[in-house]
This record gives sequence, structure tokens and C-alpha cells, in this order.
Amino acid sequence: MLNVAVQMDPIERINIRGDSTFALLLEAQARGHTLTYYTPDRLAQIEGRVFAAVQPLTVRDELGNHFTLGESQRIDLSSLDVILLRQDPPFDLAYITTTHLLERIHPKTLVVNDPAHVRNAPEKVFVTEFPDLMPPTLITRDLAEIKAFRAEHGDIVMKPLYGHGGGAVFRVTRGDLNFGSLYDMFAVTFREQWVVQAWLPAVKHGDKRILLVDGEYAGAVNRVPAADDLRSNMVRGGSPKETELTPREREICERLGSHLRERGLLLVGIDVIGDYLTEINVTSPTGIRAVRNVGGPDIAMLVWDKIEGMRRG
Ligand SMILES: Nc1ncnc2c1ncn2[C@@H]1O[C@H](COP(=O)(O)OP(=O)(O)O)[C@@H](O)[C@H]1O
Ligand SMILES: [Mg+2]
Repeated sequence: MLNVAVQMDPIERINIRGDSTFALLLEAQARGHTLTYYTPDRLAQIEGRVFAAVQPLTVRDELGNHFTLGESQRIDLSSLDVILLRQDPPFDLAYITTTHLLERIHPKTLVVNDPAHVRNAPEKVFVTEFPDLMPPTLITRDLAEIKAFRAEHGDIVMKPLYGHGGGAVFRVTRGDLNFGSLYDMFAVTFREQWVVQAWLPAVKHGDKRILLVDGEYAGAVNRVPAADDLRSNMVRGGSPKETELTPREREICERLGSHLRERGLLLVGIDVIGDYLTEINVTSPTGIRAVRNVGGPDIAMLVWDKIEGMRRG
């Protein structure tokens, strides 16, 4: 039996039908592990030690009645066996600060995923270490660079570097007169560089979420965009579909496996459109329940098998 804490967003607000963190919690509880819960704003570091006000947690797979929290108690987080680092993006300085704090106690307390590597691997940046697997991609805020990229690639997508859930993803066609205004809008909205990418027509067949556990393929779900949107994200109306891996997708998984394992990125979700890798999600990857719902394997079981194995040493 392990002492497990989950660091996550307020549990009363999650949608349990699609929430991967919730799937992990249900499986941990079924295996007899002790669960406690806290939100990132309960963290504190003092004289090199990290504390949080945690609450005992019981979960149930029942809509409207999915959790019970006990009495809050301040504990030294290094007394735990495992912490699930599971709050959702935005990947901002608040997020980054929690990875610095958790780095103080990892790996004595196993933090999943490894907080230092989570910090170093924002989804749309980490993936650029594998340019041969990606569509043509430019990261910049320089107008001349984007103009040159458009001239070369025709239709493009512009999207924020630290966006998520399909927010502010635009397709700009070759002759689109809105480009100048869109550029200006991005330039005032974002202080950092953003992503300019070749448009992938294959997106109409879906954006595949592939989950890897400790660098090994675990399961996948295809997400097909609604007829009136380019975005496949399920929060934007994309529909989950059963799927299998193509040979190219197997090759992508094999290429990434050892890199993910080396970095302690135990649960990772990669996104593939057509033959191209577009994102490597390490912050709080989703898809566990969606994979199960389309008839795939129970990835929460695979994750806990792995964590239990690591704790046994
Ligand atoms: N290069 C592209 N070509 C075609 N569609 C794209 C491209 N990039 C993103 N999209 C569409 O927009 C959606 C969201 O983009 P994505 O890069 O996955 O960012 P997010 O982190 O917001 O999910 C994708 O699921 C896909 O449907
Ligand atoms: Mg995505």
C-alpha cells in the first residue's frame, strides 16, 4: 500500500467522464493505496522542506457524487510515497513554480511526471527536438520570418506556443487578407514567440492521441473534428473514435520511447495528424478514459503497475 497525494485543480469542477486524473485516482483506490488531495495553492516551502495542507480523499465513479474530502492536515510532502502532478495548464510561472517546489522532494517521493522534466518539456517545444517527425514548423514572433514561411508553405496554422484545448488555433490560407490583422493580434496578445505550422489537410481524418506509459505504447484514440471546425479537441466538439496505430505511428513511438523513459515522463500523450507528430503532452496528459470508452486498454492499470514496480525498487 502506498501513500499517494494528488496535486490537481479543484476536484469539484472536473468532468469525471473524461478526466484522466480521476481514472488514475479510481485505480489507485481500488488497489488499496491511501489517497490525499491538495490544490497547488496549498503548497509551501520553508527551510528546504515542502509542505501542503492535504485532505484525505475518497472517489466514486458517480456523476454529482464523485468525491469525499476529509479533515485538512499540514504534512511534509517528503513523507509520501507518490505525488501525482496533475494540474492542468496554463503552463505559466505558477505552474513552473510548483515544479521547482516538487523538485525538492523528488525522487525520494516519486513525483509523476518528474517535475524538472515537466518544466523542461512544454508540449509544443519539447516536440521540436524531433524535427524529422514533425510538419514544417516555425517558432517566432518575427513578421518577416512568418511571411517567408507562408511564401514557402502556402496554407498555415498559427497557434499560441503555450495554448491548450484548441484555444486560438487559426488556419490562414495562402491569400488570406486577415493575416496582417491576425499577426497584430497575436503580437499584442502574446509576449512570447508562437507557432506557425504547415496546414495538414489530413486533420479532417482526425488528430490521434497516443498514450505512452514509461516510453511504451499503451493505447490510442482518434479525435475527428466537427464538420464546422478545424480543431479536433474534444472540448471543441471533436469526436472520439476507435483506432489502431499505423506503421509510421509505431515508428514515432519507438523513436520517442527511450527519451521519455530517461526523463521520468511516465505518462505521456502524443498527438499525430496524418504522418506528423505535433505535440508531446507531459503536464497532465488526458485520454485515459477516452481510450477505454472506445474499447481500448485500461491505461490507469498500466500506470499503477509501473509506479508500484518503481516503488518496490
Ligand atoms: N498544422 C495543423 N494542420 C491542421 N490542423 C491543425 C494543425 N495544428 C493544429 N491543428 C488543429 O487544431 C487542433 C489544436 O491544435 P494543437 O496544436 O493540438 O493545440 P492544443 O494544444 O490547443 O490542442 C488540433 O487538434 C487540430 O485539429
Ligand atoms: Mg492538441
